[in-house]
Amino acid sequence: MISLTYLAVAAFVGQTVAAPRSLKWRRQSTNETLLTDINVISQYWGQVSPYRDNEDSYFGVDDVGLPDGCQIEQVHSLQRHAQRFPTSSFDDGLNDEHFGAKVYNFTSANPDAAFTGPLAFLNTYQYQMGESFLTNIGAATEFTSGVTFWNRYGRTLYNATVGQLQYNASFANATARPKPVLRTTGQSRIENSQISWALGFFGPSFYETPQPGLDNFANGSLFDVVVIPEGGTENNTLASYDSCFEDDLQSSDLGDLDLLFQYVPLYIGAATARMNAYAPDGFTFTNNDTYAMQSICAYENGYIGMSDFCNLFTEQEWQAFEQTLDIEYYYDYSFGSPTGRAQGLGYQQELLARLTNQYITSSNSSINSSITNNAADFPLGSPFYGKF
Ligand SMILES: *[C@@H]1O[C@H](CO)[C@@H](O)[C@H](O)[C@H]1NC(C)=O
Ligand SMILES: *[C@@H]1O[C@H](CO)[C@@H](O)[C@H](O)[C@H]1NC(C)=O
Ligand SMILES: *[C@@H]1O[C@H](CO)[C@@H](O)[C@H](O)[C@H]1NC(C)=O
Ligand SMILES: *[C@@H]1O[C@H](CO)[C@@H](O)[C@H](O)[C@H]1NC(C)=O
Ligand SMILES: *[C@@H]1O[C@H](CO)[C@@H](O)[C@H](O)[C@H]1NC(C)=O
Ligand SMILES: *[C@@H]1O[C@H](CO)[C@@H](O)[C@H](O)[C@H]1NC(C)=O
Ligand SMILES: *[C@@H]1O[C@H](CO)[C@@H](O)[C@H](O)[C@H]1NC(C)=O
Ligand SMILES: *[C@@H]1O[C@H](CO)[C@@H](O)[C@H](O)[C@H]1NC(C)=O
Ligand SMILES: *[C@@H]1O[C@H](CO)[C@@H](O)[C@H](O)[C@H]1NC(C)=O
Ligand SMILES: *[C@@H]1O[C@H](CO)[C@@H](O)[C@H](O)[C@H]1NC(C)=O
Repeated sequence: MISLTYLAVAAFVGQTVAAPRSLKWRRQSTNETLLTDINVISQYWGQVSPYRDNEDSYFGVDDVGLPDGCQIEQVHSLQRHAQRFPTSSFDDGLNDEHFGAKVYNFTSANPDAAFTGPLAFLNTYQYQMGESFLTNIGAATEFTSGVTFWNRYGRTLYNATVGQLQYNASFANATARPKPVLRTTGQSRIENSQISWALGFFGPSFYETPQPGLDNFANGSLFDVVVIPEGGTENNTLASYDSCFEDDLQSSDLGDLDLLFQYVPLYIGAATARMNAYAPDGFTFTNNDTYAMQSICAYENGYIGMSDFCNLFTEQEWQAFEQTLDIEYYYDYSFGSPTGRAQGLGYQQELLARLTNQYITSSNSSINSSITNNAADFPLGSPFYGKF
């Protein structure tokens, strides 16, 4: 029998990494029809897009499945969080909230002045979103992600038996397996993502004998969690902005401050003019307002699963909205940032250390070496690693 090492690096990207998209840019058309298919619209929301897998052929390589005689030895999953409320950033939740307040203040003060046509809903609209936290839809996404990870990788890694729906903490001979160690930051939406993912993967809510107390889950008998705080100064490879101070000094908001509101007016003017055709006297939409309407469409879908703002834009305007968010993240965190590589280095060192079965005993990056130098926090040889 051929014995090959098959290593799968599964990148389940959460919302702070742009979701892979199967649409091709050549879809671009000059048709000014407003886009109404939410399955298409929702692929243009950058990091706010709901997670979806690439098509099998995305990288131009045929998917042949797991070749005969091969086994998956180890899987690494790096994600972050699923659907959340907008943040308090000036170009995110603050701009959205400002628009919501502007509309509500106007309709309250002018009950007889009416928005018309497709904007008639604004006459009774109230902005209802909180800030920053994982939504219930986000938790459901994470639960699904944990289930999918079990089906796609866990079943093979753990040699699932007939009808086995979830991870089993025992070997077939009934001795306990080494407990998987999940790692998350202490930020609410990220730790909550880890919790809901674990509910899906470890499956305590679908045991054959129902366990309404979720006893196994609650007492940590199935797995352990290493929570690294995000207090602003920690060495934390999953939140390296906390250890990379230069990032805060010069480049953390590069994409937003220097570029985002320069780019938005370049594409959104026609949409703003369209909105103003339906505005009552005394109310004027600005480009920031129109941008907020696109943003609120995305976030309300992640909150209540629908939004009245979604059918108001053309495909090109949605493509430009996506481009806006891509600019932001490219220059804040990725190759466009002077510190982007430094921010990613710690995680990469940890990945290499796990692949080569070595502890890391001193740090020259965002790594905290007191977390990477011992088996309890940094187990080597695990079938899978889940990072949030
Ligand atoms: C735009 O697309 C819609 C729907 O496909 C079609 O009905 C309409 O005729 C198109 N308009 C133009 C100007 O091409
Ligand atoms: C809306 O009204 C409140 C209460 O008067 C005020 O504090 C707030 O600044 C107004 N917001 C906008 C965007 O007009
Ligand atoms: C998987 O388990 C079956 C029995 O359930 C056993 O026959 C088989 O050898 C196991 N395969 C591996 C790769 O452990
Ligand atoms: C886990 O596996 C053990 C040993 O095969 C078995 O006795 C037990 O019922 C399984 N537990 C669950 C929850 O399926
Ligand atoms: C049970 O199975 C595991 C995995 O094959 C093995 O490492 C362990 O030694 C076994 N335990 C006993 C008591 O046989
Ligand atoms: C933890 O769960 C296991 C398995 O269900 C159970 O045997 C044990 O009593 C639980 N421990 C606590 C402290 O609840
Ligand atoms: C490293 O982690 C330990 C806990 O494992 C913590 O006490 C310490 O403050 C951390 N150091 C840094 C620089 O983050
Ligand atoms: C749009 O928002 C940005 C960022 O808050 C601000 O600098 C700019 O002045 C706003 N533009 C208008 C027209 O309100
Ligand atoms: C940084 O640490 C890594 C181990 O994590 C080591 O391989 C590398 O050589 C170090 N780099 C420098 C410049 O010291
Ligand atoms: C934290 O990171 C700094 C910079 O890489 C490093 O000098 C320090 O030793 C690290 N602390 C720990 C506990 O790893």
